[in-house]
Amino acid sequence: MNLLLQWAAVQLQPYLSAAMTHDEIAQVLELPPNPELGDAAFPCFSLSRQWKRSPVDIAAELAEHIGAGGPSNVRAAANGPYLNLFFEREEWAPKLLAPLLLAEFGQSQAGAGQRVIIDMSSPNIAKPFGVGHLRSTMIGNALAQLYRASGYEVVTVNHIGDWGTQFGKLLEAYTRWGDEAKLKEEPIRESLRLYVKFHEEAESDPSLEDKARHWFWKLENGDEEAYKLWRHFVSFSMEEFDRVYARLGVQFDHTLGESFYNDKMAAVVSRLQELRLLEESDGAQVVRLEEEGLPPCLILKSDGTTIYPTRDLATALYRKNEMGGDLLLYVVGAEQKLHFQQVFAVLKRMGEEVADECLHLPFGLMKFGGRKMSTRKGQVIFLDEVLDEAVSKAAAIIAEKNPDLADAQDTAEAVGIGAIVFGDLLHHRMLEIDFSLDDALRFEGETGPYVQYTAARAFKLLDKGGLTLADAEARSLSGAVTESGGLGRHLAGAAAWECLKLLAAYPESIANALRQNEPAVVARFLLDAAKRFNRFYHQERILTENREETEARLLLAAAVAGVLRSGLALLGLRTPEQI
Ligand code: ARG
Repeated sequence: MNLLLQWAAVQLQPYLSAAMTHDEIAQVLELPPNPELGDAAFPCFSLSRQWKRSPVDIAAELAEHIGAGGPSNVRAAANGPYLNLFFEREEWAPKLLAPLLLAEFGQSQAGAGQRVIIDMSSPNIAKPFGVGHLRSTMIGNALAQLYRASGYEVVTVNHIGDWGTQFGKLLEAYTRWGDEAKLKEEPIRESLRLYVKFHEEAESDPSLEDKARHWFWKLENGDEEAYKLWRHFVSFSMEEFDRVYARLGVQFDHTLGESFYNDKMAAVVSRLQELRLLEESDGAQVVRLEEEGLPPCLILKSDGTTIYPTRDLATALYRKNEMGGDLLLYVVGAEQKLHFQQVFAVLKRMGEEVADECLHLPFGLMKFGGRKMSTRKGQVIFLDEVLDEAVSKAAAIIAEKNPDLADAQDTAEAVGIGAIVFGDLLHHRMLEIDFSLDDALRFEGETGPYVQYTAARAFKLLDKGGLTLADAEARSLSGAVTESGGLGRHLAGAAAWECLKLLAAYPESIANALRQNEPAVVARFLLDAAKRFNRFYHQERILTENREETEARLLLAAAVAGVLRSGLALLGLRTPEQI
C-alpha cells in the first residue's frame, strides 16, 4: 500500500471515525493525476450515501475542519466532490525518503507460504530458439523475480520440447542425409536443414511420413538405436540453448523435457479409462469436450503413441502432486490458447483440483522488422544473431558517448541485450510487437538503455559525492534521515518531491504487475521514475557548495539508483554503474 496514502488515511481518520476505519479510508484514497490536485485525494461519494448529503458539501465541510492541518502539516482543500490533501514538503520529504533507501524496499511477504511453478522458455530440441521462446523466457523470468520479491516460493521449469513425432522425422532424415560433424558444430542449423529437407522430400515421397512415425514409435517403445540418436540431438541442442541463457542471465530451477513424463503417462491414460472419459475417434483416443464448447482433446494417436496434451496432463499432475505447486503458471504464446483450455478442461473432468490452479499466461507475436518465423520453410531469424546485432549497435553508441569507458564490451552486452529485454517487457503481453532494434536502443526514448543510463547518471553523482548505497541505507536505518531536521528543506522543490512520491509507489507497481501477471507495469514505472529523476537533475543542482544540501540531494540520487537497479533486476536487466 502506498505510504503517502497511508499517511493521508491517518490524517483523515479522526474526522471520519464514525463512518470509516483507517483501512477503508486508505482503500478509497487516490493519488491525484497532477500535482495541483494535491498529494492524495479523498472522493466523498461513498460517505454521501451514508450521510445523505452531497459529496460536494461533504468535501467542503471536511476541508473547513481540517483547514491548514495544524501540527501534522497536511493542508486540505475541496475540489468538487474530492477532498485534496497537500503534505507540507519540507516536513514530509525526509519521511518519504527514508524507506526508499533500504535495500529491501519493494519486497514484501504477500505470497508467503505459496509455491508457484512457472513453465517458461520451453524451446524445442533441434529447432531454433525462436522469438516466441525469447518472449516466454523474458516474461517468465520477470514474473519469477516479481513473485519471489513478493514472498512466494517460485520454482521455474524449462519444459523442453524433446519428444514427439518431429523426432521421428529428424531421425529418419538424419539416417538418410545426416552429417555427424556438422551436427556437432552447428546442431540447430544442421537439424533445421534436415527438418526442412524432410518436408521437401516428403511432398513427393509420402512413405517418409510413415517411416518417421515408425521411428517415433520405436523411440516411445524403448528402442536403443532410436534412443541413442535422440540423445545426440538433445545434448547438442541443449548446449546451444545454454549459451543463450547465459547471455540472457536466466537460470532455471529445473529443466525437465517432455520426455521426463514418459513413464508418467500410462497412469494418466488408465485414469482416463477408469473414469470412462476416453472415446475412440478414427482409431485415436480422445476426451470429448462438447459441454465445454471445445473440440475433443487428443490423448493417444491411432498407433498408441502419446501426444503433446497427454504430456501436459502428466506434467500438471506432477507439478501439483510431486512438486507441491499451489499455482501453476504457463508462459506460452497465445497461439496455444486452445491447447491449454483443453488440457485444463480434461483435468477438471478428471476431478483434479489442480484444474483451478492452472493459468495460461499468453503473449502476442513479436516480429523483427516485419519478419516472422517459420521453421518449416527454414526462414528463421536466429536469436544469437539478433543479440549480436544489438550488442554491436550498443557498443557503437557507447563508444561515441564515452570513449574511455573501462568495461566497454561488457557494458555493451548489458545494454544491448537489456534493450531487447526491456523492449519486449514494456509492451503488454498480448500486444503484437514489431520490434525495431534502433528504437529499443535509443538512449533518450522509452527504452531499457534510457533507464540504465539514468541509473548510471545517479551512480556517477554518488561516486563524485562520495556516497555509497550502503552508506545511504545505514543513514536511513540509524534514523539520521528523518531526524536530522535540515534535510527536508533541500528536497522541498517540486521536482524532488514529485520524484520522491513516484519512487514511493514502487511496491505498488510490483503488486499491480503481479495482480495482472504483467511485467510491463514495472517497466512503465521505471521509465516514469527515470523521467522524474532527470527532471530533478536538470532543474536543481545536486553537488553544491552547501554540504547539507548536497547530502540531501545525494540521498535522493541514492534512492533513485537503488530503486532503478532493483526494478531492472526484477525485469532481468543488469545496471552498469558507468555507461
Ligand atoms: N515447446 C513448446 C513450443 O515451443 C512450448 C511448451 C510450453 N509448455 C507446456 N507445458 N506446454 O511450442
